[in-house]
Amino acid sequence: MKHLIKSTSEFVKEASDKERLLYTRKPKWIGYPIAKSIIKKLDELRDYPMTHRMPNVLLVGNSNNGKTALLKKYLSKNQPYSDEETGELFVPVLYVQAPPEPDIKRFYSAILEAMFAPYKSSEKIEPRQRRTFHLIKKLNIRLLIIDEIHHVLAGTISKQRMFLNAIRHMSNELEISLVFSGTRDAFNAIQTDNQLANRFEPKVLSKWNFNEDYLRLLASFERVMPLKEESFLYETSMAKKILAKSEGLIGEISKVLELSAILAIETGVEKITKNIIDSIDYTSPSDRKKAIYRL
Ligand SMILES: Nc1ncnc2c1ncn2[C@@H]1O[C@H](COP(=O)(O)OP(=O)(O)OP(=O)(O)O)[C@@H](O)[C@H]1O
Ligand SMILES: [Mg+2]
Repeated sequence: MKHLIKSTSEFVKEASDKERLLYTRKPKWIGYPIAKSIIKKLDELRDYPMTHRMPNVLLVGNSNNGKTALLKKYLSKNQPYSDEETGELFVPVLYVQAPPEPDIKRFYSAILEAMFAPYKSSEKIEPRQRRTFHLIKKLNIRLLIIDEIHHVLAGTISKQRMFLNAIRHMSNELEISLVFSGTRDAFNAIQTDNQLANRFEPKVLSKWNFNEDYLRLLASFERVMPLKEESFLYETSMAKKILAKSEGLIGEISKVLELSAILAIETGVEKITKNIIDSIDYTSPSDRKKAIYRL
């Protein structure tokens, strides 16, 4: 099975159909050029010498287009460790999901929770902020990633202002780099504050287009899908079909391929064909939206 990477090929030789179906559903990481360049940028930020003006990144992209997957991948490569001699704990990268509403106290709670630090809900905002900042320094955190940042930058202009001030304060005070990740709303909110706009370099995960990178992505997906026959996903008409269905979002591309692989196993066809893609139970994102509006 030359169309598969070695570990997948060995797995396919041994596994039952049921095991292969489960394997199909397991999350996989496929590297691609923009992700690699963003990861390189994050390394640069993590290793940046401490100054009062640290560089920050704002990762922007459509929903379901790989922001969280990329950040989690980065986190898995930057696990905490302790100094063998002193026992001091180093947490190079901390990943946090912003709370679902623009509430500064809850914002700090989310960071405290990620550091496994207990807090009382009655705690006032100033001591909570002080404790959050203190712990970030104590754990030697060099890169603080806050995902879903558009949630906290939502709301009225005055709420947005409050948050932008809090973020500016955090950036000045901690001398660590910040990575914020969110949709275009977050980008727009940060642009309204000149000082922050200067300090946050935008990195964009655009939708996929029909080009060399996209074809390579399909080829990489094919190598980790547990099918016995080669599908030639990168063949032009097949690749175009997948792109049209998924509307250029990596989450949808991965879903279309997952459902197709499952059907290919269940029917014994053992490869993804155009027929299989037409037969999966899948609705494109814009058709999903239309269906909701029709309710
Ligand atoms: N590099 C990758 N390799 C394989 N699959 C990926 C990759 N990146 C993303 N995916 C797939 O896309 C799905 C959606 O990605 P992700 O959750 O990162 O999107 P997101 O941009 O964070 O969306 P949201 O803004 O809604 O949180 C993932 O569950 C995963 O299946
Ligand atoms: Mg996400």
